[in-house]
Amino acid sequence: MKLITKNTHRRPIGVFDSGIGGLTVAKSLFEILPNENIIYLGDTARLPYGTKSKETVILYSIECLEFLLSKNVKMIVVACNTASSVAVPFLQKITKIPVIGVLIPGSRGAVKKTKNNKVGIIGTLGTVKSKAYSKEIHKINKDISVYSQPCSLFVQLAEDGWTDNKIAQLTAEEYLKGLKKNHIDTMILGCTHYPILKNTIKKVMGKDITLIDSGEETAIEVKKILIDEKLLNTQKAKGRHKFFVTDFPNNFQQISERFLGKKISNVKKVKLQ
Ligand code: DGL
Repeated sequence: MKLITKNTHRRPIGVFDSGIGGLTVAKSLFEILPNENIIYLGDTARLPYGTKSKETVILYSIECLEFLLSKNVKMIVVACNTASSVAVPFLQKITKIPVIGVLIPGSRGAVKKTKNNKVGIIGTLGTVKSKAYSKEIHKINKDISVYSQPCSLFVQLAEDGWTDNKIAQLTAEEYLKGLKKNHIDTMILGCTHYPILKNTIKKVMGKDITLIDSGEETAIEVKKILIDEKLLNTQKAKGRHKFFVTDFPNNFQQISERFLGKKISNVKKVKLQ
């Protein structure tokens, strides 16, 4: 690990996810921090993380972190909610550079927004089982009732682009009926893929629901940390973005455009050690 020098702020920010879903987080980072150089790693060969054991997700996350450290990044953002739920404290022990997951910013956002103190969390099985979001929320406010629901099929629906059709609608109705009965007024989209299904989720939950996009909240937090740590890149030029994956899914280009809102061409396949 290189020590912080007067040029540290010029180094890139490293972002990793289990695959391409984390591009929703990258999209928010690109918008909020347009002058930052960003390196994105999607562990597409080992996707999904959401159904794997905690031990496996921690191990994979350490390998992703080590790859990004080898690229001399100044900060690491864990875009994957599942990895954020179980691995961040382990990653923070490995390096002295800031490592931030999507969990704390997402939880803070929900606590700020709820008016009736009833918050819903949707995520992968791994994220929901870890109870990490509810623990984080209760650290801030013990009086908030938290209700969680795994929505595993949402990941595939988002990747296939089935986000606004009948199947998405029926799937959302089935998954979300319990949360509706609990009268939550705020819901954390606790998975990288779920912001793509925002419209359908809102339709099912009703127009008064406040949806918290953990990725957006995280990008705001990343900017704050960079300013506080004097790590913000002050260059006038637009930041450079590099993308790495551990395998190419068949329709990678198409899927990535759906998540990022633009085409990416400079993607390299890498092998993690
Ligand atoms: N990126 C994962 C997450 O946010 C979803 C996909 C997966 O299960 O790996 O939890």
